Amino acid sequence: MQVFEKNGHQVVYGDTLEYLRSMPDECVDLIFCDPPYNIGKNFNGRKEKWASDQDYLSWCYQWIELCIKKLKPTGTIYLMAATQNMPYIDIFIRPYVTILSRIIWYYDSSGVQARKYFGSLYEPILHCVKNPRKYTFNAESILIEAPTGATRKLIDYRKAVPTMYSSTKVPGNVWQIPRVRYRMPEYENHPTQKPIELLKRIIIASSNPGDLVLDPFSGTFTTSFVAQQNGRHSIGIDVEEEYIKIGLRRLDICKEYRGETLQRPCKSYEQQQPESIENLPLFNHDKGTSLHGYNS
Ligand SMILES: C[S@@+](CC[C@H](N)C(=O)[O-])C[C@H]1O[C@@H](n2cnc3c(N)ncnc32)[C@H](O)[C@@H]1O
Repeated sequence: MQVFEKNGHQVVYGDTLEYLRSMPDECVDLIFCDPPYNIGKNFNGRKEKWASDQDYLSWCYQWIELCIKKLKPTGTIYLMAATQNMPYIDIFIRPYVTILSRIIWYYDSSGVQARKYFGSLYEPILHCVKNPRKYTFNAESILIEAPTGATRKLIDYRKAVPTMYSSTKVPGNVWQIPRVRYRMPEYENHPTQKPIELLKRIIIASSNPGDLVLDPFSGTFTTSFVAQQNGRHSIGIDVEEEYIKIGLRRLDICKEYRGETLQRPCKSYEQQQPESIENLPLFNHDKGTSLHGYNS
């Protein structure tokens, strides 16, 4: 296990169970868990598939218990899981925490959809707190526009002086947020990267500046990145070295890793190409005319 740290942000290269066991209890304000779903995804060559559903769930129960131990009495934990596994996790976690919301992260798919059944367009997220009477929820900071369907502002005539209805609201439990696509600036090379927008809502709502945010399955370290952008501290853990490099780069913890310069890989459409054939110099000393050079 290796820990890299800078300005209150830790990138941990190692197994999450091992690191969680080494942490003091009740020290974290917010935990976001996005584990492998046991659906055969390939994480940089490491295929995630347990021998049985029971084996997978037993493993989940271990890190969930540890996460809850590490959470402060006023803390919040968000948990993601595959739709088919979420009912087990929901039932397992109930004795330990209060589930405030069962969130649906809904996204439309630009890709090919199932043709013989109804394709899946959502992932469930549990929003839980240790103490339902004392927890952080910054409702005012996450307001969204409330579509009323009306072309003009609605007026509340029940008030002594008629006033306009508020046009903003706290989001409900269905969140429509696009998945991360290759052409988005935030894209990293990871099969299940979560969007900045999703983590921003979670972190702003359920933590305050200076709080500690933990992500036990960091992947591209979106959680830590958003925590850093919003003045929180962070601990992110991943077992895969390629993803540790992404974390070190995104959090600007170091510029080099084992002699390798950490740079965002160039996307295929970013390769330098002449804008148009007219912009080429007319004569290239090595290759003859520019048209000749461009085509060769
Ligand atoms: C679903 S992905 C998380 C994606 C992440 N939320 C993001 O936005 O990029 C799960 C991650 O858990 C990591 N992982 C799997 N088993 C692990 C373990 N035992 N300890 C630490 N990380 C692990 C995988 O390498 C993978 O990057």
